[in-house]
Amino acid sequence: MKTYNIGTIPGDGTGPEVTYEAVKVLKAVAERYKFKIDFTEYDFGGERYKKTGETLPDSALDEFKKHKAILLGAIGHPDVKPGILEKGILLKARFALDQYINLRPVKLFPGVETPLKDKGPQEINYTVVRENTGGLYTGTGGISMKDTPHEIAVQSMVYSRHQVERCLRWAFAYAQKHGKKARGQGEENTLGLVGKTNVLTYAFDLWERAFHEIGNSDFPDIRRDYYHVDATCMWMVKSPQWFDVLVTGNMFGDIITDLGAITQGGMGIAAGGNINPEGVSMFEPIGGSAPKYTGKNIINPLACICAGAMLLENIGEEEAAVCIESAVARVTSQKLKSLSVGKMGYSTSEVGDLIAAEIS
Ligand code: IPM
Ligand code: MN
Repeated sequence: MKTYNIGTIPGDGTGPEVTYEAVKVLKAVAERYKFKIDFTEYDFGGERYKKTGETLPDSALDEFKKHKAILLGAIGHPDVKPGILEKGILLKARFALDQYINLRPVKLFPGVETPLKDKGPQEINYTVVRENTGGLYTGTGGISMKDTPHEIAVQSMVYSRHQVERCLRWAFAYAQKHGKKARGQGEENTLGLVGKTNVLTYAFDLWERAFHEIGNSDFPDIRRDYYHVDATCMWMVKSPQWFDVLVTGNMFGDIITDLGAITQGGMGIAAGGNINPEGVSMFEPIGGSAPKYTGKNIINPLACICAGAMLLENIGEEEAAVCIESAVARVTSQKLKSLSVGKMGYSTSEVGDLIAAEIS
């Protein structure tokens, strides 16, 4: 039987609860589609950091590299200063494993309430490809003359042609395979570049030139659009149906995908993948560790379950991935009262059971 080694990092807060449900669902789908998953759990996170001072040792990265993929619950602990775990674990893994794509679908499932007036699953169904290893996230910069009135802080938006190009090429290919035309939902497959060419005239000049050069020469069948990031936020609220696949830099991608998440029903459902197309990828719910709900069995596990579906698609188990997605769609439309914490009409583990039962 085909066997996959999957590493899990349940992490902090409600991370372990949602990871447990995702693993439950992955086991059910593996049984149905006749493959096997061997899970290895890693305890990186706030508790371990408090005990040992360790965030993510290099040895763990070597171990992750031996896995087919990683599933992560959540990172962030109320007793640990913000930044230590996020940078030390999450960003370290993304960078060290060179997961240069952050794939974040903005998809409203049937029966899910959206704050957008008169919009439904037809309108809210697009994908953001966020560049994941460059930009403002590289830590390039510094502080000089600290603690004087003349103190200067610099944080640079760093992009190389190489970084921009590999991200754009992946996004074009993604649009070709998963765009609206490919899904039978439109006349064209479209890639929209989200930038700020009117102010960031160096970084986004590079992005824009590469975008058109690559599009012209290698993806002439993909329609190209361009949006400033501020206008993108407006259209994500007013006319999300315009979007198909969007591609953008690291920071803009971080910001617009939180907006996207709330339009698809919130952090309870929003999933993402940190993808190294040539290496080991890591899938996670977009939301945080929600410490105040820890251990109450009320958090929504669907985001982590959807991250599990994205993981399966990434490792080539596409039918199993679609099976989970359809089960989620049936459960959101027929069973759950809401996607919000404590208001689902079911507990965390019951939601996991519902999805697993739909699958079996
Ligand atoms: C996300 C998060 C992270 C990010 C933080 C926790 C470092 O906000 O995955 O979107 O900014 O990438
Ligand atoms: Mn974010």
